[in-house]
Amino acid sequence: MQYTQNNALEQVRFPILITNFKAYQSATGIKALELAKIHEEVAKEYGVCLAVAPQATDIWMIASQVEIPVFAHHFDCVTHGQFTGHIVPEALKMAGADGSLLNHAEKRVPFTVIADSLNRAAEVGFFTCVCAATVEEGKNIAALKPNAVAIEPLELIGGDISVSTANPEIIRRAVAEIKGVPVIIGAGIKTGEDVRVALSLGARGILVASGVTKAADPRAVLVEFAKIMKEFI
Ligand code: G3P
Repeated sequence: MQYTQNNALEQVRFPILITNFKAYQSATGIKALELAKIHEEVAKEYGVCLAVAPQATDIWMIASQVEIPVFAHHFDCVTHGQFTGHIVPEALKMAGADGSLLNHAEKRVPFTVIADSLNRAAEVGFFTCVCAATVEEGKNIAALKPNAVAIEPLELIGGDISVSTANPEIIRRAVAEIKGVPVIIGAGIKTGEDVRVALSLGARGILVASGVTKAADPRAVLVEFAKIMKEFI
C-alpha cells in the first residue's frame, strides 16, 4: 500500500495539544492549511507537540505540507469494498493521517463499534484518541486501550467557560480513575491558564477547537498554550 503520510506519528508525544478544526469555515480548505502551518511553526519554535484534526477532505493537502501530526475526526469500522459514504481508515492513512479522534461528542459511536474500530486502527497503525463525556464513560473506553482518552463535558463544548474553570473536579477524577491511558481534557479551553490548570491536575493533553479556530489571532493563542505546555514536558 502506498502511503502519503508525513511520518509525523513518531512525533506524537505528551503533553499534546490537538486542535479540532471541526467544520468551522475558518478552518476549512485553504484556511485549514494556513492554520495547520501556524501550528507547525509554533510547534517547532517551542518544541511542543501540536496536532491538528482537520476535516477528512483537507487531510491530504495538509499532511503533504506540514510535519506535525494530522488526525482525522472519525473513521468508520469498515475495510475496502462496498461501503459508499464510509471513511475507510486505510484511505485516511494513505491521505496522510497519523491517527484519529473517535466518538467525539459531535460524532458519537456505539461502544461495541469503538472496540472494533480500535482493532481496525491497530491494523492501520493509527494513534487513537477516543472521546468521552464523563469519567465513567472514559473508564470503560480506557479498558479498550486507545492511545488516549479525551474527557469533554458536553455542556461546556464550544462555550466561553472552560472545563478548567467550571469543573476542575472532573479533571482530577479522570486522572485519578482512568488508569493506564493518558487523559486529554477539552471543552471551552481558551487561555494558557486553562491549559495550566488541566496539565497541573495531571492531564497529559488538551483538546481544543473554538479557542483556536475562532480566535482573532490563532498564532498568539497557540504561543500562549505552547509556553505553558513546555513547563510540563
Ligand atoms: O474537540 C474539541 C471540542 O469539542 C472542544 O471544543 O470549542 O469547546 O474548544 P471547544
